This record gives sequence, C-alpha cells and structure tokens, in this order.
Amino acid sequence: MLDRVKDLHQEIEHYVINSPEQLEQFRMRFISRKGVITELFEGLKHVPQADRRAVGQELNGLKNFAQERFESFSQLVDEQQAASKSVAPVDLTLPSIPNLTGTQHPLTLVRQRIIQIFERIGFNVADGPEIESDWYNFGALNFPDNHPARDMQDTFFVEKASADTDVSSDMLLRTHTSNVQIRLMERQKPPIRSIMPGRVYRNETISARAHCMFHQVEGIYIDRNVGFKDLKDTLYHFVKEMFEPGTLIRFRPSYFPFTEPSAEIDISCQICGGKGCNICKHSGWVEIAGSGMVDPQVIANCGIDPEEYTGFAFGMGIERITQLKYVVNDLRLYTENDVRFLRQFEGL
Ligand code: PHE
Repeated sequence: MLDRVKDLHQEIEHYVINSPEQLEQFRMRFISRKGVITELFEGLKHVPQADRRAVGQELNGLKNFAQERFESFSQLVDEQQAASKSVAPVDLTLPSIPNLTGTQHPLTLVRQRIIQIFERIGFNVADGPEIESDWYNFGALNFPDNHPARDMQDTFFVEKASADTDVSSDMLLRTHTSNVQIRLMERQKPPIRSIMPGRVYRNETISARAHCMFHQVEGIYIDRNVGFKDLKDTLYHFVKEMFEPGTLIRFRPSYFPFTEPSAEIDISCQICGGKGCNICKHSGWVEIAGSGMVDPQVIANCGIDPEEYTGFAFGMGIERITQLKYVVNDLRLYTENDVRFLRQFEGL
C-alpha cells in the first residue's frame, strides 16, 4: 500500500494541467469521493493493525498534497480562462478582411519606369533644390533678362523672410529641372550622363490642362564628341521602351534659349493610334519632350570648355507621359487623391 501511495504522489507531482477538462479529470481521479485516494482510505481496514497508523498518516499526507495541487491548478486554469476571454472569439467561417494595401501613384509608376529605362543605358539620377536662384533657373541657361518666362506671370518668386533692408530677392520656385543640369556641370567634370526627375512650378491657373505644380524628368549628356545623332538614338530608345510597339516618333525644329539646335519630340497619339482625336487635337501627333544640343555658352557658363566638350539635353513632363500611357484626361486627378482614381493603378 505504501508503494501505491508513493506512486500516486509522484503521479500528482508530474501532473500537467492546461484546461478545465484536465482539471476535472484530476479532480475525479484524486479528490472526488470515487477517486483513488478515497479508495485507498477504504482499503485501510485491511491493513494490519500495527501498520495502520503509519499508513494512515501517509495517506493523509497524500490527500493533502492532492488537495493543494488541485487548488493551485484551479487558480491557474481560472487565470487562463480570464485571459482568453478578453480576446474576442474567432469565427472561422467569416470571410477574410480584404487586404487593403496602398497603390503606387501613377506619376510614381511612370517616373520609376523612366528612371529604369535611362539607367539601363548609363544615366544616373541627380537631384537639386526646388527653391532656386534666378541664375540657376534662368541666367546660366541663357535666358535673356527680358525673356517672358521670367515674367511674374510664369514664375513664382520667393520673398526673403528676413528683416533685411534688401527685400528684393532673386529666389524663385524652379520652373524646370534644368537647374540641376547647371549644378551638375559646375561641380562634375565630363563625362556627365544624368537624368533629373523632380517637381517644378509655374504660375498657371489650375484646370484640366494646366497646373501650377507638375513633374519633369530632364536629362543631360556631356562628353567629347556627343552629337545630335546621340540625342536622337537616346530618345528613340526611350520611346520604344516606354510606349506601345509601333509608336512613331518625329523631331520638330524648335527653340530653347539653352540649346542650339533645338527640337521638340512628338510621338504618334497613343489614344487614337494617329487617326486623330481630342487629345492630339486631330493631328495624330502629341508632343512629349523638348531637346537640343546644349548651347556652347551654357557649357562655358558652368566652367567647362565648349571647344572640348559637347552634349545634348532633353526634358519631358511626367504628367504628359502618364496621360498618354494611362489615358488620364484631367491633370487635377493627379493631386486630388481620389481613391477611386488611385485604385485603378493597383498592382501595376
Ligand atoms: N527645360 C525645358 C522645359 O522646361 C525642357 C528642355 C530641357 C528643353 C532640355 C530642351 C532641353 O520645358
């Protein structure tokens, strides 16, 4: 009998309880009136008189031990129950919560694609300030003093915030990212082969076709023997990678103060395929970029010898490219953050 008591003692010692059901099993086995300990007490009468007292004491010890364990187990189970009640019950039959991850803004998508295309042919990405001086935005780029682009109507000028007596400021919000080209040429020896994506500002009334803030990617390539052919090859490559197969491209003579010769680049309308529609004003062509050979004077303005180095530059509006690629007909959609618009670019 003493062996049996010892075994049960050990069993209780190693008992593990994790649920009310297990607690109940423990109670049934050791504590209840039909349990093993009661049974042993009943067997006490068969124990020889001489040993009965000692065995009885052992049995009482076992009973108390079982009772103690039971109490601490119940406390543990109560705590577990309380903790699990504070968590809402899970209904596995409910449909799952839709996975509402954000979408990339169409302008971001297109900017990244443009960067990818040019990076693969050896251009790196350069950055520069949006608040710029007249020199970097206009002067160094050969804009004459009386050029209409400097006019208050096109350019946002920035007033000095200090109490300086000299309140006239030549600071402005850049009207193109060409300022980064000047800064690059000033501090980097050719070869220079960079693109500069960024925000630009022009004083326009906001409408479906114009905005006072938009995005450009400009590019510049300065090295020995860079010619117009390189400009054409680069932009042909860009159009081929960016737009639908079969898209036509044409260079149209144009004028920019900082390039000579200059050309505007048109592609066949992506919306009507060149047949004529509202977007291309029924001409079948849409303009996507300005470009040209960097004027030797601009190269010299940045401290580079124009006799030794030549180069080309180009600039395009990201909104325009996005409009053609995704048929967005109102510029305001890009800044209104209407999720019904933005959601359409999910997964692109
Ligand atoms: N800076 C011009 C613009 O803002 C674009 C351009 C860049 C044209 C480089 C020619 C060469 O429209």
